[in-house]
Amino acid sequence: MHAISQYQEFFIDYLESQVIIKEPKNLYTPISYIVGLGGKRMRPVLTLMAAEVFDADYKKALPAAMAVEVFHNFSLVHDDIMDDAPLRRGQETVHEKWNINTGILSGDAMLILAYQYFEQYEPHIFRDLAKLFSKTALEVCEGQQWDVDFETREDVTIPEYLKMIEYKTAVLVAAAMKMGAIIAGTSEENANLIYEFGLNLGLAFQLQDDYLDAFGDPETFGKQVGGDIIENKKTYLYLKAVAFSKETEAEQLMHLFSIQPKDNTEKINSVKQIFNSSGAAKITQESIAEYTFKAFKTLGKMNISEEKKAMLSDFGKSLMGRNV
Ligand code: IPE
Ligand code: IPE
Ligand code: MG
Ligand code: MG
Ligand code: MG
Repeated sequence: MHAISQYQEFFIDYLESQVIIKEPKNLYTPISYIVGLGGKRMRPVLTLMAAEVFDADYKKALPAAMAVEVFHNFSLVHDDIMDDAPLRRGQETVHEKWNINTGILSGDAMLILAYQYFEQYEPHIFRDLAKLFSKTALEVCEGQQWDVDFETREDVTIPEYLKMIEYKTAVLVAAAMKMGAIIAGTSEENANLIYEFGLNLGLAFQLQDDYLDAFGDPETFGKQVGGDIIENKKTYLYLKAVAFSKETEAEQLMHLFSIQPKDNTEKINSVKQIFNSSGAAKITQESIAEYTFKAFKTLGKMNISEEKKAMLSDFGKSLMGRNV
C-alpha cells in the first residue's frame, strides 16, 4: 500500500498524461478546464486504494479511477447549472465562464469519455465495471432529481433526504471503491463490503458538504457559501432545524425557505443563526461522525490486514477534518 498523498500523485500523473483537448475546441476546452481545476480527487484515490487493499497493482486501476473522476466532474458541470452556482474550486463554473449550452454538451461528452476508459479492461472486467457504472450513474440522476424536487416541497422527511444523498453522492463513492475490488478480482463478499464502507463514508461526506455549504470559510471553501440556502435546498441542517427549533423559529425558517430575495445576505444570516440556535449544526456534526464510524464497522467484517484497515479508517478520519 502507499500513502494517500502518493495515490493522489499517481492519479494526477496519469491524468496529465491524457490528452483531452482536440477539435472542436469549444467542446474540449471546458472539459480540460474543469478537470484541471483539481479538487480533492477523493474518488479516484479510493479506487486505487481499493485495488491495492485487495492485492492488485494500483496501475491496473488507473483507467477506472479516471472514469470515476471524469464522471464526477461531468456531474458537477451539470449540477452547477441546476444549482445556479457561480463558483467551483475557487474559479468560475463552466456555464458562467462559457454558457449553459457549453456546460450541457461538454458535460455530455464527459459522460461518454468516462465510459470509454473502461474499454481498456479485458471483457469480463469491462462487463462488471460497465454494469456497476450504469447502475450508479442512473442512481446519481435519480438523486439529483429528488434534490431539485425537494427545493419546492415543504414536507420532505429525513428518510427521504437520506435516500436522496445516498443516490446523488454516496453510491458513486461506494462504486469507486467497488471498482478497485472488481479490478483486483477479489471475492464478491469483499467487493460488497467495500461498497458498504464507501456508501457510509459517502453519506458522511454529503452531510459534511451540507454543513460546509453554510458554515465553510468563503476564503478557502471554493464554492459560494450559503448557496444551498439561496436555492432553498432541504438539507440535513434545514430539516433538523425545522424539527428542533421553537415553533416561531421553525415558522420563520419555513418562510425564509419559500422566498427568493434579490439580496440574500440577510436571509443567509438569519437561516444560519437558526441552524445554530436549534442545535441543527451540532446534530449534523454528530451525524457525520456517526456515519463515518458506521463505515469503520464494515471494515471489521473484511478479511484484510489490520494495516490496510487502518489506512482506510485514516482516510475516513481525514475526511471528517476537511474544510473544503
Ligand atoms: C462535490 O464533491 C460534490 C459532492 C458530491 C458533494 P467533492 O467535494 O469531492 O468535489 P471536488 O472534486 O473535491 O471539487
Ligand atoms: C452534488 O450535490 C451531487 C452531484 C454533483 C451529483 P451538491 O449540489 O451539494 O454538490 P456541490 O455542493 O455543488 O459540490
Ligand atoms: Mg451543487
Ligand atoms: Mg446539487
Ligand atoms: Mg453541496
